[in-house]
Amino acid sequence: VEIPSLSRVYQEFFNIGAAVNLRTIESQQNLLVKHFNSITAENDMKFIEIQPVQGQFTFEKADQLAAFAQKNGMKMRGHTLVWHNQTPDWVFQDVNGEQVDRETLLQRMKEHINAIMKRYKGTIFCWDVVNEAVTDEGPELYRATKWLDIIGEDYIEKAFEFAHQADPDALLFYNDYNESNPQKREKIYKLVKSLVDKGVPIHGVGLQAHWNLVNPSLEDIRAAIERYASLGLKLHLTELDVSVFNHEDKRTDLTEPTPEMLELQAERYYQVFHLLREYRDSITSVTFWGAADDYSWLSDFPVKARKNWPFLFDENHQPKDSFWKVVQF
Ligand code: XIL
Repeated sequence: VEIPSLSRVYQEFFNIGAAVNLRTIESQQNLLVKHFNSITAENDMKFIEIQPVQGQFTFEKADQLAAFAQKNGMKMRGHTLVWHNQTPDWVFQDVNGEQVDRETLLQRMKEHINAIMKRYKGTIFCWDVVNEAVTDEGPELYRATKWLDIIGEDYIEKAFEFAHQADPDALLFYNDYNESNPQKREKIYKLVKSLVDKGVPIHGVGLQAHWNLVNPSLEDIRAAIERYASLGLKLHLTELDVSVFNHEDKRTDLTEPTPEMLELQAERYYQVFHLLREYRDSITSVTFWGAADDYSWLSDFPVKARKNWPFLFDENHQPKDSFWKVVQF
């Protein structure tokens, strides 16, 4: 049977994206070009990759990914500008290793945002400006980070303001995980609403969507989409994968997914995409955090060296039952 293009099937609904790196744009090239019309750099546009040392910008890998997108007529999402992870220590320190002051850190944030956003202006249509600023723990809103410590709560709005100045045409997103958990959802909503109310230039909410066969529930996913959409912002699923292991599953010995896992995964993908299509007015992009089961960050997270099979395409890039469930409606 003819295998339809995933992104063509979804062209009336939303973009279909994949996170990529220099290896996968080679090894998965045909698959990417056929089924995906958007890419995100999995790591190569993060702070530590772009500016490992102050003032030394290393754009080579990011440039190659941007060129791949351009050559193949794909959109590109930018990921990410301000985050607590994969950010070098120098950002927060002076030459003596002492913590810098607020003004210095704001200046560094601005310089970094300017350098990277201006370079990819016109190629990258949207940016995850701030990633994972909300804490999962307790009643507090903000995650403890150096950005928060040194600058204060307004580090988030400053990042959006700098980003808007750097590229006024780029769509600016707040991105987070556990986005469908009701408690975290309300915190993310509160944060984003406060930004909107203050007139901060923010255009969308990114739902990372690192999900598994049962969690979060479909009801919680729906409630999260409704809640964020009520802000009048665009929604992107930015890092979708459906782990075949549920949280309590501690097995480490599987060398291939069980038939039961694949069946549950297909049913899960069917339900998820059915739901996403309902919200086509708000959801304008759905990006997977990879493309096919031969490569996923989940093969090393949260359990080291445990393979996962989270995507619509198998290790040989062939469509899984999950794929057919997503394209047949
Ligand atoms: C992950 C990458 O996939 C890994 O290769 C890297 O080692 C760690 O970061 N949330 C995010 C992404 O916003 O940037 C993370 O990507 C996955 C979780």
